[in-house]
Amino acid sequence: MTSDPIHDRQPIIAVLPGDGIGVEVTEVGMRVVRAAAARSDWSFRAESALVGGAAIDATGSALPQDTLELASAADAVFFGAVGGPKWDNPSAPVRPEQGILGLRKALDLYANLRPVKLAPSLLAQSALKEEVVRGTDMIVVRELTGGLYFGKPSRRWNSPTGWRAVDTLSYTEQEIERVLRVSFELARGRRKKVTSVDKANVLTTGRFWREIATRVGADYPDVVLEHILVDAAAMYLIRRPATFDVMVTENMFGDILTDEASVLAGSMGMLPSASLGSGQNGAGGVHGLYEPIHGTALYTPEVVGTGRANPLAAILSGALMLRYSLNRPDDAAAIEVAVEHVLASGYGTPDIAGPSTQVVTTDRMGDLVIAALGETSARITAPAAG
Ligand code: IPM
Ligand code: MG
Repeated sequence: MTSDPIHDRQPIIAVLPGDGIGVEVTEVGMRVVRAAAARSDWSFRAESALVGGAAIDATGSALPQDTLELASAADAVFFGAVGGPKWDNPSAPVRPEQGILGLRKALDLYANLRPVKLAPSLLAQSALKEEVVRGTDMIVVRELTGGLYFGKPSRRWNSPTGWRAVDTLSYTEQEIERVLRVSFELARGRRKKVTSVDKANVLTTGRFWREIATRVGADYPDVVLEHILVDAAAMYLIRRPATFDVMVTENMFGDILTDEASVLAGSMGMLPSASLGSGQNGAGGVHGLYEPIHGTALYTPEVVGTGRANPLAAILSGALMLRYSLNRPDDAAAIEVAVEHVLASGYGTPDIAGPSTQVVTTDRMGDLVIAALGETSARITAPAAG
């Protein structure tokens, strides 16, 4: 163990695999994180708990109290995916998604970072022309605890003219300002450009968002701020993706745009995410939750247990966890380098396979990343002779 005070204490990771392929990719992701820690001679304690459909089956709730307590007390939460046809009855009072939405809200994880970077070796597999997608390297910052997902009222009722339903898009100034600040700070460490996405031509909240973005932007004169309407952003994402650096937007817009953006990275199975709150943890980072963006929906239920799921989004989420919550930036970078190395060596899961890809299973992909981690440390500690 290292001897600095922050790293003296063994960090605790709450592992919440959830349902379906969430279980498989989480297992592989944690295996890689453990290998990265061992390689740098430190360790953590992992504690698992139920969430989503699995928790509904066992307890009747998608987010049992024990799970919430573990997630709040841990230094970081490593999350798989929730949902599946078994729990999909639209009139059911409890839904697996309440597990993840409840965690985001209860832990106040308001900034959801979704990096979208195309591995050079996946260039040819992209659905877009190489010259359009080349150089794509952006982070979408999705506001995660407000907006259309959480606004009240949200309900359906029988009115004199028939059934009606309502959801509400609502934001406070503080909610918008804090996620904008996260975005500007991120941009400072990158290419110094923030694209704020709204619907200011139609929505009151859109004009409010834009006004606050402009005001916050004045505190960051070194960062270029541009405003784009969300419909145009959907188009520019596939027309000129490489021009974006940090893109920040409302909860629902961010949900939609990041599924679109995942196509840029070759597959939704490649995209990790970090959901950050404002609280520091005892491990020298921020309290955060880390999950692949794909959820259970990416794979049909028949894929579960067949070894066809891509674990790279979970593995790369593990890297983000090391960087933002566990204060281990070198181990995070080592995982990212190892993943690039495995892809460049021609391996892939079916979702990212081209004509010459050596197709491997979920588990084998984990083994390959771990082996590449070993080679990375060998390269660092013992430069190649000759
Ligand atoms: C995501 C997912 C979730 C969301 C679902 C599973 C509730 O689509 O993280 O993007 O809508 O936020
Ligand atoms: Mg989504």
